[in-house]
Amino acid sequence: MIGESFTEEKKVEIANKIKAIELKTVEKEFKELQKIGIDAFKISERSRIGNNIVDYFTFTQRLNTRGKYNVNYFEFIANLEYFKEKKFIQNMLNYYETVKNKNKNKNDYIVWKEVYNICISAINIMRPIVYMEIYSKYKPNAILDFCAGWGGALVASSALNIPKYIGIEINNHLLKSYEKLQEFVSQYSSTEINMFFQDALSVDYEKLDYDLVFTSPPYYFIQRYENNVVYETKQQMDELFYKPLFSKTYLHLKKGGHYILNVNREVYERVCVNLLGPADEEYPYKKSKRQNNYQEIVYVWNK
Ligand SMILES: C[S@@+](CC[C@H](N)C(=O)[O-])C[C@H]1O[C@@H](n2cnc3c(N)ncnc32)[C@H](O)[C@@H]1O
Repeated sequence: MIGESFTEEKKVEIANKIKAIELKTVEKEFKELQKIGIDAFKISERSRIGNNIVDYFTFTQRLNTRGKYNVNYFEFIANLEYFKEKKFIQNMLNYYETVKNKNKNKNDYIVWKEVYNICISAINIMRPIVYMEIYSKYKPNAILDFCAGWGGALVASSALNIPKYIGIEINNHLLKSYEKLQEFVSQYSSTEINMFFQDALSVDYEKLDYDLVFTSPPYYFIQRYENNVVYETKQQMDELFYKPLFSKTYLHLKKGGHYILNVNREVYERVCVNLLGPADEEYPYKKSKRQNNYQEIVYVWNK
């Protein structure tokens, strides 16, 4: 397999061929989110309102995330011939050609993205509407999100005018996207936003004020986000990542606040229960179906 050599401009061009989102759609969706406000829980589970905002600013970066075979979308399309040697990928491409996309309604980039999602890895976002539902339930003044990801949390806190949102993200390729996203939301929202592009383990949480933690950390080896530390074993990741990170961030959470994690049961059982005790509340985090068969749950601890 060869590496990919797309320029940044080319990557943006490809991303736009997969999802062509106009700024006016983004503006419209942000206003709709503001209108929904604390009633987010009433919105259908299938609603995608707000996703275009996240995609508009961070979709290109998402395509750099590596899934199975340690390959990202751009590497996948640069090495299609190599991947066609894998029977199920070849079969899927044939199926698109002869059945699913027989009428050529979808361009090649979209077809390859769908095949990538099915055969390699779908890189999901947490939807702004889901964040809004949780924020509205706990009514925070200041949110700490120490694995900020694709921006849905920033969009949600801004749409709700939560006084403060603190995001920490190790992937500094997202810096420019976040700058633009922040500039966009600041036209409509009074939320104070503090973004730190650094390893969440190196942050001094004593200096931060927050009464709600809600984040979605990476799970063992499922996806490889850019710039992330690679751990060799689950045990190592427990000891060097989850345990120190959850302890520090919990320690400095305001009393009366809520500590909320979106993790799978394995991380909950291996790490969280010993560290924080059984959760005070838990509910399944519902999202559109995904190909890997593990369930993500939202666990809540009251401090
Ligand atoms: C599961 S994703 C979060 C996705 C998020 N729920 C969303 O939908 O946007 C995990 C994020 O944590 C980030 N991350 C991983 N290790 C980190 C660390 N040590 N410090 C800060 N962020 C980290 C990754 O780069 C990735 O963006």
